[in-house]
Amino acid sequence: MSADENLEAKIEAAVKNPRNLGEMENADAVGTVGSPDCGDMLRMWIKFKEENGRRIIDRATFQSFGCQTAIAVASVATELLAGKTVDQARSMSGEELAAPLGALPPVRIHCAQLVEGALRNALSEKSDTPAPAAAPAAATSPTLFDQLSADTNRKVKIVMEKRAAEDAG
Ligand code: FES
Repeated sequence: MSADENLEAKIEAAVKNPRNLGEMENADAVGTVGSPDCGDMLRMWIKFKEENGRRIIDRATFQSFGCQTAIAVASVATELLAGKTVDQARSMSGEELAAPLGALPPVRIHCAQLVEGALRNALSEKSDTPAPAAAPAAATSPTLFDQLSADTNRKVKIVMEKRAAEDAG
């Protein structure tokens, strides 16, 4: 099997049986991103736990109105994220999040960046040190579907801009 066929097979398997798909109740963090390249959207929910005084990702779930590659990357990425500290998760690139699928061709890198963007958006206000009794931000958050159907003209925050600002600062 060539590398390309291998990648396609892994994407197909992940899309057929996606892990951690769906909205998470009582999430501690939620991040949404829209791709400026293709208009696809992805939302990620994260639940933390505390371990030795550090905030660790307990689990992550996602919802996607995106292509199959984005769904496959989100599926493997949410599995990779369990057990990572906030800082470890925040430092992961799209390629690292997609690594279990194999190397993505250049035209699909932005699909992995969609997952990276949603993750960074969710973690933007979080640190490794647990804050005392922070109110869960996700409790009143509308679902991605609600948001899309309520206002299809509204532009979703593009995290790429935010990252550029962060990188500069
Ligand atoms: Fe847009 Fe894959 S084509 S995320």
